[in-house]
Amino acid sequence: MSKYFQATASAPVNIACIKYWGKRDTKLILPTNSSLSVTLSQDHLRSTTTSRADPSFTEDTIWLNGKLDEIKPGGRLSTCIDAMRRAREEVEDADPKAEKFSQCKVHICSYNNFPTAAGLASSASGFAALVYSLAKLYQLPASPKDLSIIARQGSGSACRSLFGGFVAWREGTAPDGSDSFAEQVAPEIAWSDMHALICVVSDDKKGTSSTAGMQRTVETSTLFEQRKAVVPGRMRAITEAIHKRDFDQFAEITMKDSNSFHAVALDTDPPIFYLNDVSRAIIAIVTEYNRVSLDAGGKRKAAYTFDAGPNAVIYAPKENIKEIVEMIVEYFPQESFKDTFALFGKEDVRGRL
Ligand code: PMV
Repeated sequence: MSKYFQATASAPVNIACIKYWGKRDTKLILPTNSSLSVTLSQDHLRSTTTSRADPSFTEDTIWLNGKLDEIKPGGRLSTCIDAMRRAREEVEDADPKAEKFSQCKVHICSYNNFPTAAGLASSASGFAALVYSLAKLYQLPASPKDLSIIARQGSGSACRSLFGGFVAWREGTAPDGSDSFAEQVAPEIAWSDMHALICVVSDDKKGTSSTAGMQRTVETSTLFEQRKAVVPGRMRAITEAIHKRDFDQFAEITMKDSNSFHAVALDTDPPIFYLNDVSRAIIAIVTEYNRVSLDAGGKRKAAYTFDAGPNAVIYAPKENIKEIVEMIVEYFPQESFKDTFALFGKEDVRGRL
């Protein structure tokens, strides 16, 4: 058997509070606005990827959840693999003692422990784990920031999954994308009682991919310019809320930005509906829950957000989670949720509703 090199890495899902929606460069994947997300705990929703380089392999090959996938020349997978291979070549060129295996083909196996492409950011954790496993395989001296620039070219939101905690993706201005990277705004421990509750409304594959949806929005939505104008202020305000651990402000901005993203999706021609009736009912429940608290002179107690699909993510301080779960269970009979209902934080109370 020939000598092979192998490495495994995992990356968790991240869920944006300020959404990335729109590309100014579709090849380099440069966004039209900065975004900010929370990386969920590694213990729950994650992608795990093993990469192996072996002189006996005849072509680069990838399996996603056990199924062979295509690596299209010039496509996103090959962009990431080629970038990492070039970085290994540089290491080999610079150090005559370095083992020479950059020219070996690679076999890559990636596995998600949650439904793929159901609006649960599988491409984010997937590309982050891919790039991270190749960085380990090739023993590269790359920083998470460097890797975020490469993962971004696989799937924009993937750049944020290379960091834990609260993470910003700076849109940048450089035409080559060298300043469009992710960075940590605050570590998870800075606000450790923040929990995320994932309500899997549907695990079907989403109707309009984020790539197609973004393109249609950039080309046809008139609301989109307004959205671009408000996002920088939201980025500043939510960063301040995170640093101050001001949940009320965090919740207000998170919900506004989710609504703004779905409004812009609806404003495309033809319109895109990512939310369904169950999603809208969850919005109503959270809104009512907050209204009762605000009317009593209190603060917001929960924040919903939805990506490009009907599944809800509810952010809330740990102390409110039990109440929120009880409320949702009361409103939705057993069959309303197709799959798991997971609670993130230190403990995991995943189960079927
Ligand atoms: O990275 P993509 O192409 O899967 O796009 C992600 C878009 C949203 O999930 C809707 C927003 C975000 O910032 O994650």
